Order: sequence, then C-alpha cells, then structure tokens
Amino acid sequence: MPALPRPTSTLLPHRALAAIAVVLALLGGFLVATGSARAGTSHLVEIEGFAFAPATLTIQVGDTVTWTNLDDVEHTATSTAGAFDSGLLAQGESYSLTFTAAGTYDYLCTPHPLMTGRIVVEAASAPAPAASQAAPAGGGGLPDVAMEPPTADPRVPLGIALVVLAAVLAATVIWRSRRAD
Ligand code: CO
Repeated sequence: MPALPRPTSTLLPHRALAAIAVVLALLGGFLVATGSARAGTSHLVEIEGFAFAPATLTIQVGDTVTWTNLDDVEHTATSTAGAFDSGLLAQGESYSLTFTAAGTYDYLCTPHPLMTGRIVVEAASAPAPAASQAAPAGGGGLPDVAMEPPTADPRVPLGIALVVLAAVLAATVIWRSRRAD
C-alpha cells in the first residue's frame, strides 16, 4: 500500500487561498458596484446673471442638487414651500441638497424674487431608499427633503475592504509559491 505523500505545509494550499482571493475580489467588486449604483446622481445649477441655469431641472429621488453662485452679488435658492433655503450665497459659494421625495419644488432667490427655478423630482425606477425625514408635526404637508449631505453607501467601503483583502491573499499566494521554488 503506497504511503500518502506527506504534506509539505500545514497551511492552506495555494489553490485554496487563490480561490478565496478570487471569491473575495468578486464579492467586493459586486458590493462596490451595487453600492455605487444605489447612490444618487449629482446635478449642478449655476446662478449667473441673476438667473438659475438650468431654470428647470428634472432629477430622480435620491439625487443631489448643488447650486453655485457665480455672480458677484449674493443670491439664495429658497423653496417657496419652505422645504429648503440655501441662505445667502456669496460668489463662489455652493449649497447642496439631496431630494428624498418625489414632487415639484419651486424656489426663488429671496433678495431677487423674480429669479425663479424649479426642481422636478421623479420617483426612482429602482426601489427608493427608505431613509427619509418624517414631516414635522403640523408642517402642512411640506415636501420631505433631507437637509443633510448625502451619506455614502456602507457597501462601498466594505467592498473595497474585501478587494484589498483579496489582493493581500493573492500577494501571499505569490510570495509563498516563490519561496517554495
Ligand atoms: Co438673486
């Protein structure tokens, strides 16, 4: 009866480590992709020449709008329904807002009420993230708008961590096989 070959190492064989690395890399890549896809798109509205450009912007729930004042006069982007207010923006200053509820948001510039704009927020085709602020009591049906900057999807850093771990494993496999030669 032939003797079984003695294992040269009690550590995991290279193939197993390499397979684990591949699985981790695939899982990490998947998490990064799905986490990024869920994140909203960013849109820009420029304030220039006493006008918002574009004056009407159509976005999807979860998207972020950033207004930037290019004039040397202070302007605001102020919701006519009280949903948001940038406050006075000096030249070069910006204000960002993530819209978490579908609807039409009209706004104007408080010092120059003839400056008007509109954000049309469409329901996302994918299931919308559940996170949204409850309307304040007695708020009279104010639009539901998140006032915080957008938060990163936790799947993205987790996915990156897995890919890094996979790279470390792969490097270990390569290092070990070189030593074995
Ligand atoms: Co203005």
